Amino acid sequence: MEFPELKERVQELKAKKNAVILAHYYTPYETQELADYVGDSLELSRLAAKTDADTIVFCGVDFMAESAKILSPQKTVLTPDPRANCPMANMLMPKELRRYKEEHPDTIVVAYVNCSAEIKAEAYICCTSANAGKVVASLPKDKPVLFVPDRYLGTFTKKSVGREMEVWPGFCPTHQRFTLKALAEAKALHPEAEFLAHPECPEELSAAADFVGSTSAIIRRVGESDAKEFIIGTEQGVLKAIREKSPDKIVYPLLEGNVCPNMKLMTPQKVLWALEDNEYEIKVLEDTRIKAKEALDRMLAL
Ligand code: 13P
Ligand code: SF4
Repeated sequence: MEFPELKERVQELKAKKNAVILAHYYTPYETQELADYVGDSLELSRLAAKTDADTIVFCGVDFMAESAKILSPQKTVLTPDPRANCPMANMLMPKELRRYKEEHPDTIVVAYVNCSAEIKAEAYICCTSANAGKVVASLPKDKPVLFVPDRYLGTFTKKSVGREMEVWPGFCPTHQRFTLKALAEAKALHPEAEFLAHPECPEELSAAADFVGSTSAIIRRVGESDAKEFIIGTEQGVLKAIREKSPDKIVYPLLEGNVCPNMKLMTPQKVLWALEDNEYEIKVLEDTRIKAKEALDRMLAL
């Protein structure tokens, strides 16, 4: 089926089912075009919490769709492809975290949303890359903190807030591929360009960046900066929104072809199938959901 026909069919089904399509910036460009909203993790969580649609088709990796279900249990949340998971989220098992908590009963656990519902249920508060600093700064000063599962966002936040924390050694394989060598090569080609990095990048990249922020923050920065050219240190799906919002600016991916393969599973064809077949429904055990919601709600209340 050609894209215009597919899009029309998706619109019909969406209206019939009172459905909304939420997509992350890393999904394929055509999927972003089908979406009612495209955003970063924080924005998509907020939208999932307040939409009055009956069905949410979540185009993102599993932890994002799970967050939507945790926040809106009465809604049907569908993922177009249940294989789309985040490797970083699998770098910490609930059992490991429970053991850690038994051994460190005073410790406050901050969970980056890139983790399973079970990990969120064990955490005191969640954060995203857009609000990690704010979340960590809000914690009582006299308690030890464990930040899970991303070592790079954890380390970046520790430095920017000036707060000692233990950091779990997880990482994002896509952002881990960015190196100082790639940056030096890109800078040699585009010496006037600002370098904008996602905080999931290795710490030497964040340290070398002119700006570090979430996907939405990077997109905003291009529009607000006086610079004309930018090297983008995150998954290249964000280039679509940057080019649409700032057509007068020139953007280069730090590493051509560096994509999140899981986000790219969210194809337009699967979005249509999700609506046609009501598949695949996200389910979260009620006990887990209630505890995970507390951690998400604490974050959303800030
Ligand atoms: P954002 O919160 O910036 O959208 O990032 C999500 C993510 O998975 C980055 O890899
Ligand atoms: Fe996970 Fe990295 Fe993909 Fe984000 S880009 S969803 S952190 S694997």
